[in-house]
Amino acid sequence: MKNISDFCGYDYKSLIYFENIIKKLKIPKIGKIVQLGSNFCVTLERMCNFYGHKRCIGYDLINPLNHPNVVIKDCSKLGKDKKMDNFMIAYCDIDLSSLHISPKLRINAVKWAAKQVVKNGYILTNNSWAFKKHSSFDVEKFFIDNKFKIIQLDKYKNQKWAKIFNKKSPWNTKSAMLCKKL
Ligand SMILES: C[S@@+](CC[C@H](N)C(=O)[O-])C[C@H]1O[C@@H](n2cnc3c(N)ncnc32)[C@H](O)[C@@H]1O
Repeated sequence: MKNISDFCGYDYKSLIYFENIIKKLKIPKIGKIVQLGSNFCVTLERMCNFYGHKRCIGYDLINPLNHPNVVIKDCSKLGKDKKMDNFMIAYCDIDLSSLHISPKLRINAVKWAAKQVVKNGYILTNNSWAFKKHSSFDVEKFFIDNKFKIIQLDKYKNQKWAKIFNKKSPWNTKSAMLCKKL
């Protein structure tokens, strides 16, 4: 956490997507609700309030507010501990570091999460439009090959919240997608 842009607050994309899209999805009853990159837990806390504290788990290198649902872990090692990293996931938001800083970290997270997600569960992550600037990894092909359906967040771009978000924030719905396990 070196500068102010490392603090993700109430206008941050994870929370905007959670409040406007994710909460309205039919999420499977089985499996954890996971956020890879929980930061100050602004979104994780909302997830806990919505799905229940028992189901939600955040992963990060830091836990500055000592949120009880955060596991401090270097997620570049996700999947290496077969016992700890092997559980069912109903929904996973992949938001580790930044794509332009650590594309490999996100790719590792994508590959790990894709193995854990149950049928009809979802993963929220960057799409190929965003990935291709920083990596040759074809993220959309990966998900399709692994029996996921891709839902581009840009389909929400005409909704009122998305118009404001795309105009006023540094983020944009065109860079993210939901992947639903078939
Ligand atoms: C953009 S922030 C996440 C914001 C959060 N999704 C939210 O809703 O507020 C990215 C987070 O990734 C974490 N991070 C960076 N590298 C990591 C790693 N190797 N393992 C785990 N977390 C990491 C950072 O500490 C930071 O909190």
